[in-house]
Amino acid sequence: MMLPYEIIFKKRNGQSLERAILEEFVQGFVEGRIPDYQMAAFLMAVYFRGLTADETTALTEIMVGSGQRLRLDCGRETVDKHSTGGVGDKISFPLVPLLASCGLAVPMISGRGLGHTGGTLDKFEAIPGLTTDLTVARFLDQLSEIGMVIAGQTHDFVPADKKMYALRDVTATVDSIPLIAASIMSKKIAEGVRHLVLDVKTGAGAFMTEQADAEALARTMISIGMACGLNMRALITDMSQPLGQAVGNALEINESVDVLRGRGPADVRAVTLALCSQALVMARVCSDLEQAEKMLLEKLTNGQALSRFLELINAQGGQAAIFEPEQGYLPAARYQHVLTSTRSGYVTRVRPKEIGLAVALLGGGRMRTTDTIDPSVGLTIHVKCGEYVQAQAELMVIYYNHEDRLDQARPYLTNAVTIQDEPVSSPILIKNVIAS
Ligand code: URA
Repeated sequence: MMLPYEIIFKKRNGQSLERAILEEFVQGFVEGRIPDYQMAAFLMAVYFRGLTADETTALTEIMVGSGQRLRLDCGRETVDKHSTGGVGDKISFPLVPLLASCGLAVPMISGRGLGHTGGTLDKFEAIPGLTTDLTVARFLDQLSEIGMVIAGQTHDFVPADKKMYALRDVTATVDSIPLIAASIMSKKIAEGVRHLVLDVKTGAGAFMTEQADAEALARTMISIGMACGLNMRALITDMSQPLGQAVGNALEINESVDVLRGRGPADVRAVTLALCSQALVMARVCSDLEQAEKMLLEKLTNGQALSRFLELINAQGGQAAIFEPEQGYLPAARYQHVLTSTRSGYVTRVRPKEIGLAVALLGGGRMRTTDTIDPSVGLTIHVKCGEYVQAQAELMVIYYNHEDRLDQARPYLTNAVTIQDEPVSSPILIKNVIAS
C-alpha cells in the first residue's frame, strides 16, 4: 500500500512504479477514491518523465481490466485497423468490407470526432437510419452473422480510459507517447481482436507531426500488443495534407463508396490496399503482399466488396438502397461556394488542420462533445501538394447550409492552400512499415 502522494512523488522524480502500485492508483481513480487533481498530477508527471516499456504494458492491462473484455468466438480470424487520426481519413469504410469479403471477421470499435479531426462513427451515421450504438449482444451476433461491425463503445468499455482521457484533454497531457499508446491499445485489447494493423499518421494534421515520433508511437503500441498476444504491424502514413478529396461526413462516405466501386482518389485507394494487404498476410489468408493486393483488387472490380458494405449498412439499420444505383450518393448540403487560385504556381501546402477546423465550423464537426453535427456539409479539395495550378483554377468546393457558417469557415480556407513559384515534390504517402 502506497499513498497517492507517494506514487505521484515517485513518478515526478522519474522512478518506475510496480504493477501493483499502478493498479492501486488507476483502480482507485476509476472507483472515485483518488480525486481528479491527483490523477491530473500523475498524468503530468508521466508526460514529463515517461513510462518504461513494462510500466506502459502494465498500465494498458490495468486499463483493460477496468471494464468488460469481449470474447470473440465467430469461427473466423479476427482483424482490426486503428488509425491515429487525421483529416479526410475514411479508410475504415472501404477496409472493413474488403477484409470481410476476403473471409476475415472485422469487429471495429470506433470513436467520434472532436476539433479538427472527424470521427468514423459520425461519418457512418451520415447514412440515414444507421446506428452505431449496439449492445454487446447485438455486436457479437452481427459479427457472427456477417463478419463485420463498426460500432461505438458501450459504457462499460475501458472506463479507466474514458475517465483518464477526459482529464488529459483538459490538462494538456494528451500528446504523451506512453499515454496515447496505452489508451489506444487498451481499447483494441478489450475488443478481443487477434490481428491489428495500425495506421500511424505523421505530418501537420496528425498527433505526431514528426515521423520519428510517429515511429516511436508505433513501436510502443506494437510492443504492448505483442506482450498481450496480438499480432501487430504498423504503417507510417502521410498526414501533411488531407487524405483524398472529400472532408465532411456524407462527402467522405460518398468517396468511400467510390473506392468500393473501383474508383476514388489514388491516395485513399493506396492506403486502403496497403493496410488490407498487411492484414491479409498477418492473418495468413495470403502468403505475400502481392498475392494479397491481387485478391483485394479482384474484390473491388467484381463488386463483392461494395455488396459487403451495403450488407453492413443494412445490418446496422441504414438505407443501403441509396447506393444501389451506380450513381447513388448521399445528398450534399444545399449551397456550394468555389474557391479559386489567385495565381499560378506550385501547390506547396494544403493545410489539414485549417481544413478540418473549417469543416467543423461549417457544422460538420464538434468543438464541444455536446455539439450536434450536420452530415451534409464539408468540402472537396481539387489540388494536392506538388501539383502545378493555373490562376483561377478551382482549389476547392465548399458545401454549406448557412451563410453565417460559411463566413466563419472561410478565413481558415482562404489560407489553407499555399501556391509558390518553386516546385516541391509530392509527399511520400506510405513512409514506413514497422513489424516489431
Ligand atoms: N486516441 C485515443 O484513443 N487515445 C489517445 O490518447 C489519443 C488518441
